[in-house]
Amino acid sequence: MPPPPLLARAVHKRYADTTALDGLDLEIASGTIHALLGPNGAGKSTAVNVFSTLTRHDRGEVLVAGHDVRRQAARVRAEIGLVGQATALDPMLHGRENLVMFGRLHGLANSAARDRAAELLEGFGLADAADRKVSTYSGGMQRRLDIAAALIRRPGLLFLDEPTTGLDPRGRLDVWAAIRRVVEQGTTVLLTTQYLDEADQLADRITVLGAGRVIAEGTAGELKDGLGGDRVIVTVPDATAFARMVDLLDGEPDPDRRQVTVAAGPAGGTHTLMTVVRSLDAAGIRVDDLVLRRPTLDEVFLHLTAPTTGVSR
Ligand SMILES: Nc1ncnc2c1ncn2[C@@H]1O[C@H](COP(=O)(O)OP(=O)(O)OP(=O)(O)O)[C@@H](O)[C@H]1O
Ligand SMILES: [Mg+2]
Repeated sequence: MPPPPLLARAVHKRYADTTALDGLDLEIASGTIHALLGPNGAGKSTAVNVFSTLTRHDRGEVLVAGHDVRRQAARVRAEIGLVGQATALDPMLHGRENLVMFGRLHGLANSAARDRAAELLEGFGLADAADRKVSTYSGGMQRRLDIAAALIRRPGLLFLDEPTTGLDPRGRLDVWAAIRRVVEQGTTVLLTTQYLDEADQLADRITVLGAGRVIAEGTAGELKDGLGGDRVIVTVPDATAFARMVDLLDGEPDPDRRQVTVAAGPAGGTHTLMTVVRSLDAAGIRVDDLVLRRPTLDEVFLHLTAPTTGVSR
């Protein structure tokens, strides 16, 4: 089996008195979108910079497609593309000129650079704007061109550091579509984000980073399940009904709200909801409100990154 696009083990990185990475472990599967999710200062950019050979880590091991980022930096650079938090484009050049320049910088002959630029402009929906200055592009268009520039040499692994930060909703959707396209074409993507919905929408797997280490990892669904899974919440109109409901249902009562919360069984939330409805109906208990609640990724994230919460994996 070929080595994974990225394998990081116990990576440490200190800046003066700041520990930016504190034993980071990460493995990315080929052909997937992997999100590194974390708040400001969690170490996302440091991780991407270490993985892309821009920053040297102090301890631990990082292999890109089996190549060591410290000892085989040139091999690693040939494997990767990087879109950093700041744009790499020249705003005074046209979109096409930027891409051709990148192609030339990466050693393509002029005609090859022009062909590749045209192909990328078409693929990223920028053909109509190709011969305008980048300074006239919207934020989403600029970011798409940034991504296109990083793909000039068809890297196997693309790093995107907060690709949609600062974009309006339309721009975000366009960039998401561009990222999905990148993966469809066979490139593996590691993106960093502070946005839960972005990780939820795009990523096959999510690694939650806090203070330079992994605090949780899984699919969006697994992370949500980690917080206790689905719950069915029943509210009844009066105290009598509440007392009867407490006897009937195996859940957590809240007398003030006349509510019982039932954790979903192994058959899932919908099944538990049906069971609850049937038994309430059979007992003739009137219900004010009945909801099936799935923890949101926001709740997972807040729970995991809260300073007072114990670390869980
Ligand atoms: N060049 C540097 N010199 C000193 N400290 C740094 C440097 N780069 C990062 N740090 C510190 O390392 C920690 C991690 O920073 P990093 O930029 O990796 O976080 P981040 O998750 O990318 O944050 P953001 O979401 O704000 O981009 C922070 O405390 C930051 O202040
Ligand atoms: Mg950053």
